[in-house]
Amino acid sequence: MKQFYIHTFGCQMNVYDGQRIAALLQSRGMTQTDNIPDADIIILNTCAVRAKATDKVFSALGRIRTEKKPDALMGIVGCVAREAGADAFRRVPDLNFVLGPQSYHKLPEILENPDTRLLNIDLGGLEKFDEMPQITTSPTLAYIPIQEGCNHCCTYCIVPYTRGREISRPFDDVMRDVIHAANTGAVEICFLGQNVNGYKYTSPDGHIYRLSDLIRATATQDAIKRIRFTSSYPTEMTDDLIDMFRTEPKLLPFLNMPIQSGSPNVLTRMNRSYTLNLYIDIVDKLKRARPDIQISSDFIVGFPDETDSDFEQTMDIAKRIRYINSYSFKYSPRPHTAAALMPNQIPEKIKSQRLYKLDALLNEIQREFNESCIGKNLTCLYEGPDKTGKHAVYRTPYMQQCIVDTNGKDAPQMAEIKITAANKASLRGELLTDKN
Ligand code: SAH
Ligand code: F3S
Repeated sequence: MKQFYIHTFGCQMNVYDGQRIAALLQSRGMTQTDNIPDADIIILNTCAVRAKATDKVFSALGRIRTEKKPDALMGIVGCVAREAGADAFRRVPDLNFVLGPQSYHKLPEILENPDTRLLNIDLGGLEKFDEMPQITTSPTLAYIPIQEGCNHCCTYCIVPYTRGREISRPFDDVMRDVIHAANTGAVEICFLGQNVNGYKYTSPDGHIYRLSDLIRATATQDAIKRIRFTSSYPTEMTDDLIDMFRTEPKLLPFLNMPIQSGSPNVLTRMNRSYTLNLYIDIVDKLKRARPDIQISSDFIVGFPDETDSDFEQTMDIAKRIRYINSYSFKYSPRPHTAAALMPNQIPEKIKSQRLYKLDALLNEIQREFNESCIGKNLTCLYEGPDKTGKHAVYRTPYMQQCIVDTNGKDAPQMAEIKITAANKASLRGELLTDKN
């Protein structure tokens, strides 16, 4: 039996794409291996968002070439495939296929014609979802993409180039995935999209479906206990969606809503279409709808021409919003983006210093939030045993990891947990009741 190896880099969308590719190859009788020398086809499912991510893919290919069977097929799918295009064949001459994020359903063509090179980086829409088999069983937490691409054109970001303009999946298709997930073990649904809250599908009879409609319909599924979505653009937090936090208890009180920078000047040059005041107003509205809501963010430091005082404004907004969990990055110039051509690029050393300072602050805020949970009872979802096998790992509604001693008993899937201790990375707790 033929075997495939797949390695996924990057975001949750890629993780989902990787699962669909695995299901596609399994439906053709192949089995998955973690061992490169055993594989007949090797797939790197790639991320292009920062230069480092792209470099990782090419250095991994260099390693794989020396390890793989001589006749094994090797290729890249996803955003680096779209970024590099045919140039990838020049950089790695024994590459067999290069398939962009919207054409990986074409993968079987290379199995049928192994002696050719397969290149397809078209932005063909979302037919990949129709043409590929379902993932057979869902883990407790099922990620479901609802839209792909982004219309926002932030000046630093390669995603609009690699994933194209926004396309939303039909409402009925998403709900079919939700019901399938609910029937095959999922308890939590996380809706995915580059601009997930921009979801907008107009049915043939003219009805417009928004993310709030998907949340409401998903909440009627008894098996589903928790719902969330990522990643959100601030100005697309429309009132109907904010209201969901008030009316729908299954929607978790946790939202990733990247601000990127706290400096109005930098935000303008990034082409982020909100002012600081507008962003703060949206957070206030969310808090009124759901007082226990917490926000996480992505930050970029060292954007072209970012001054010390711009950077201090980013520190200030982080303190003001008190993001409980964030991702922060040094600005990385990318091809096909406007910011790469801007003057006054910031030296690497300054970027590193700023990142270090921001990370220290974000870690401190996260630790303080974790400590503030001590003594609270939180309803948590079981994730699996810890490394030692002696404890159960749960996820709180804020996605914190919580370690629980189950005293040798089976861990219930949903449980009320009293938080007893905390540090920056995780919580400890005691099982109170079984919520199943
Ligand atoms: N909304 C998208 C975000 C895409 S990229 C999604 O969830 O898929 C994820 C994050 O990477 C961005 O929020 C931004 O903080 C960071 N990022 C994007 N382009 C970058 C660049 N050129 N340099 C550094 N960080 C970048
Ligand atoms: Fe990228 Fe900005 Fe869209 S970060 S994915 S262009 S919202």
